[in-house]
Parts: sequence; C-alpha cells; structure tokens
Amino acid sequence: MITVFNEPNDVQVELEIYLFSRLRDLGRLSVGRNARKRVKDWFEDDKNNSFEFTEADRRICIFKAELKEKDTSSFETLRSLGVQILGKCKLHKAETAHIVSLSNGMEVFFVLEGVLLSSYSFDKYKKEKASIRLNNLFAPDLDDSELRELNSIQEAVFFSRDLINEPVNYLTAVRLAEEIKAKGADCGFSVEILNKKKIESLKMGGLLAVNFGSIDPPSFSILEWKPINAINTKPIVLVGKGVVYDTGGLSLKPTAGSMDSMKSDMSGAAAVAGAFITAARNELPLHIIGLIPATDNRPGGNAYTPGDIIKMFDGTTVEVLNTDAEGRMILADALSYAKKFNPEFVINLATLTGSAAAAIGTKGVVAMGNAEPKLMKSLEESGAKVHERLAVFPFWDDYKDLLKSPIADLKNIGGKEAGAITAGKFLEHFTDYPFIHLDIAGPAFLDSTDKYRTRGGTAVGVRLLFDFLKNRS
Ligand code: BES
Ligand code: ZN
Ligand code: ZN
Repeated sequence: MITVFNEPNDVQVELEIYLFSRLRDLGRLSVGRNARKRVKDWFEDDKNNSFEFTEADRRICIFKAELKEKDTSSFETLRSLGVQILGKCKLHKAETAHIVSLSNGMEVFFVLEGVLLSSYSFDKYKKEKASIRLNNLFAPDLDDSELRELNSIQEAVFFSRDLINEPVNYLTAVRLAEEIKAKGADCGFSVEILNKKKIESLKMGGLLAVNFGSIDPPSFSILEWKPINAINTKPIVLVGKGVVYDTGGLSLKPTAGSMDSMKSDMSGAAAVAGAFITAARNELPLHIIGLIPATDNRPGGNAYTPGDIIKMFDGTTVEVLNTDAEGRMILADALSYAKKFNPEFVINLATLTGSAAAAIGTKGVVAMGNAEPKLMKSLEESGAKVHERLAVFPFWDDYKDLLKSPIADLKNIGGKEAGAITAGKFLEHFTDYPFIHLDIAGPAFLDSTDKYRTRGGTAVGVRLLFDFLKNRS
C-alpha cells in the first residue's frame, strides 16, 4: 500500500512530480533559468505529455494535466495519467515521491487515484512479489478530508479486490463473513454473522437450497454503520451477492472458460464491504445496513435440482428450472429480510447474469429499479464521476410475466431474451421498498489490466457507492 500524506516529513524525496496545464503557471516551478527554458520549449512544441530532467541531485518530472470541472471524462484522463506516473516511479525505483500541482490543485486527487489503484497486485500466493518500491507520496495540495478519502478508497478497493481474487479453497462463505467482520472491527462498523443453524431457523429457503450441494456451510452477514450524527431516520440498505464459487450446480456450467472466473461471483458482497470501509473511515453521517448472503454453488450429494420447488424466506414458492440462476435465490432471501429494517431504499449489487455482461461488456454497470428517478439520477451522476458508469435498462412490469410458473408462485428463470431484466424482476418480487439493482457481471472481473483496473477483481461498485453515499451526507 502507498501512503499519501500532505504534511512534509523527513523522508528524502527521490522523484519530484509536477502537474500543470498553463504556461503562466510555470513561474511556480523552482528550477534554474536554463531548465525553465527547456520546460517552456517542451510545453510549446512537444507533443509528449511529460518532460523529465535532473537538476543538481533532483530528479524532476513534469506532466501536462488539466482538470475540466464539468467534464467527467477529464477526471478519467487524469486517473490514466496517474497510471503513467506510477510507471515513472517504478522506472526510477523511487520509494518516495511528491506530486505537486502548479495549477489549481484540484487535479491531484484524480491523478493520485490512478496512481494508487493501479499499484494493486494480488501476489499473496507468489514467491516473487510485485516490486513496487513506492510507499510514500507527499501531496501538499490535498486537504485533510481529501487525504482521508484517497487513503480509504485505496484501502477499500484493495480489500474488495483481495476478497474477489481469493479462490474458494481459501475463501469459503464462512471465511468471507469472518474477513469482513475483522475488517469491520478495525474500521468501526459492526458485523453480525448468522451461521447455518440460524439461517435454518429463519427458514431462508433460497440460501439453503443453493447450499445443499456444498460441504461448506452458508453464512449471512449483517453489516451496520450507525453513527450518532446520522441524518437519515430510515436506513439505507445495501445487499451484495456472495456466491463464493459458482459452478452452476447441477445445471453445470460448460467447463470451457465459463467457470474460470467464478470465484468472483461474490463481487457484489465485496463491493458492499468496501463501501462500508469508506463510509466508516470517512465517518459519513448516514445509517447504513449491509446484507450479504453467501454460499458456494455446487453439484454435491444433495444439491438442489431442476424441478425442485423451494419455499423462500418470505413464503414465496419458487420452481427451480436452472440451478445456475442461484444468485437470485440467495438474494431474494436477503431482500425479504431487508423489509424488517423499513429501509429508505435498497441497492442490490450482484454478478447476476451473463446477459448483462453480454449487453454492455466490461465498461459499465447495468442498472434498473423502481425507486424515484431522482435516486437513479444521483447514482448515474456518481457513476460518471468515478467512471463506474450506469446503463439504465427498462424495468417494465411486462417482464414479470416471463417468470410465471404453472406449479409455483414463480420460476427462477425467464425466457431466452432480456435475461438481466427478468432476473431483476425476480428480485423485485421480494421487495416492498424503493429498489435499485446493479448487475455488475461485466465489469467485476477482468482477464487483463485496463489502466488502473488491474486484472482479476476490480472492486467495481466501491467507489460508486462511496460517492453516492457521500453526496447524501
Ligand atoms: N454468476 C452467473 C452470472 C455471470 C456470468 C457472472 C458471467 C459473471 C460472468 C449467474 O449465477 C448465472 O449463472 N446466471 C445465469 C442465469 C441463467 C441460468 C438464467 C446466466 O446468466 O447465464
Ligand atoms: Zn449461476
Ligand atoms: Zn452466479
């Protein structure tokens, strides 16, 4: 992890990084006349966005960086610049660097976001660890709250990515719950873990059905952040899909490729946990509850079976026609459970359907819901800002018809078409409050690095939820 600070300390800065966008800001750069002339020439003539030189024993690197406050795409350009800057730090094997803006300073936050998030690698299981030496970044342009935000975003995203990247032979449903609980103790939010016995006594039929084929017990985690200065009376509830591995169950996924990344099927859970870390570290004055139903989905001895009729937590009966549609089975119980909190609204995050991934790929989040438009708008704005953009799908009641079963209240799959929407409609059946569903199947996991979204788990949703919650506080 890289620590960012805004007060000078005694550490020797090995690399000086400056950001600027206008020639007239160049006066703020304290270098000799000769160097200043060279920088000026570069700025005026050179298409390259960076210029590097040494002066005495200083190594100086200057980047063109411009923030356009109303243009969210400029935020993303700055994050990408951060990736490039981390590359420079790696090249020079710098352990400490400073990043200073010669312009208005607002661009530093986004640049640092790119630096920090691209420095992640999951090398717990490797003898040879990734060799990023950089561990101290001095950024005097940041105020204390920006500093706290940045460091907490890094902590939350890395925690979330670690959970996603952990394979199921380590991260079982119970361990997922325990890791979140331990993190909660560190950050100051509470986590209550319901064990299998408790889940049975509550008759969470959906979660138990998916767990039938597994040797490992399920878990159901209840996260809570409730500061005394909370400004909302009804809590905001976040629900995350915690399928620690999805084989498809008896409706087994075809082995060629489609199962390889299914350890990431708890990315919704990881996003919810990450959002709690940011809420607690930044002391957001909001009452938030998180619900994480978790299990693996396997074709074991007593695995639930196509044709089974399952009685869910709220009494609804579901005809199972495909055991690979397991996410909605466990989420349905969590969404029914959410009713007891009388929530202001609920946001669900899940790697729910291949259909969502097929529709928009890895570049955005499929969103739908029945909450007032203002709420979706606010999420969309956050999405644009943090570059976890939303594609809002229709949520018309017509789609409900596709879930009718002749022998139960619902069936767990719709037709051939609109799979992301019918899955969302299935979930909606278990709600009685304003509801937004985010299908993150596309962007949750990447086979190769895309700028600061490193390969493997991306932790999509963490920054989206944090920005959204922050705007409500
Ligand atoms: N976990 C998958 C969805 C998924 C697919 C996530 C690809 C990430 C990448 C989910 O449980 C699933 O298998 N959904 C099925 C539902 C179908 C059987 C109705 C799907 O989308 O094919
Ligand atoms: Zn599945
Ligand atoms: Zn799944």
